[in-house]
Amino acid sequence: MTAATTVTPVVQGIDLVKTFGRVVALDGMNFELYSGEVLAVVGDNGAGKSTLIKCFSGAQSPDAGEMFINGEHAEFKSTSEARRHGVETVFQTLAVSPALDIASNLYLGREVRKPGFVGKVFRTLDKKRMRSESSAHLKNLGISTLQNITQAVETLSGGQRQAVAVARAAAFGSQVIILDEPTAALGVNESARVLKMIQDLRDRGLSVILISHNMPQVFEVANRIHVARLGKRAAVVTPQTASMNDVVAIMTGAMTVPEEEQQLAPAP
Ligand SMILES: Nc1ncnc2c1ncn2[C@@H]1O[C@H](COP(=O)(O)OP(=O)(O)O)[C@@H](O)[C@H]1O
Ligand SMILES: [Mg+2]
Repeated sequence: MTAATTVTPVVQGIDLVKTFGRVVALDGMNFELYSGEVLAVVGDNGAGKSTLIKCFSGAQSPDAGEMFINGEHAEFKSTSEARRHGVETVFQTLAVSPALDIASNLYLGREVRKPGFVGKVFRTLDKKRMRSESSAHLKNLGISTLQNITQAVETLSGGQRQAVAVARAAAFGSQVIILDEPTAALGVNESARVLKMIQDLRDRGLSVILISHNMPQVFEVANRIHVARLGKRAAVVTPQTASMNDVVAIMTGAMTVPEEEQQLAPAP
């Protein structure tokens, strides 16, 4: 069942193409993310998942095709440009600085200076303010396990580091959070916590793109599932309309879904 909708996607890609030499990573990929949903992106290794989200996050530019954010044409030359448009990404290779504390990691690249002369001239950091604001952000996200905001990130567990990375992405007026395999290196309890955080982000009205290999996790949190295959969108289904076996079959090309049976937009 395709929902007839006039709602503008938060993130849209039309006919995106990206090649690396003779390798075609994106081969006319279409993509839509809508407000307030968790959209899982699944697909076999090499299907183009990471390349797709790197286009939206400003880490790479497509060779052809168009991108839109809230209906406005977007061409991101850097990740900071994407960030300014409200698109935050936690890449597969976690971008946290182990030696820095949690507060410093949250503010990496957007440090708060002390007010007045010392801040402007000596660029002195307002550590106190960053720490208190970090605590507030983490509390908002319900991350109660990160007790000590002055603790170096290298002393944290994998799940806690992931929490810092997600908190960093979610903390600063973002509307879209992209997570590339956030639980791949995590244990069961830590994964559960990150999944809970993803649901909390959605409940706060953010839109989440979740790349994952873990079908049970995808089926637990996703509203819709974008299945990528050979650089294209093979189908969009939901946990209600498809089984895990169906999704794997679509990934491998063993099954196709007619467009009128896909869930190209959230149900109204
Ligand atoms: N920077 C790169 N240089 C060369 N080939 C790349 C690069 N990034 C991705 N590719 C290739 O593009 C294809 C899609 O990769 P990727 O988007 O990482 O897939 P996925 O994340 O779905 O596993 C793969 O064949 C991969 O080897
Ligand atoms: Mg990948």
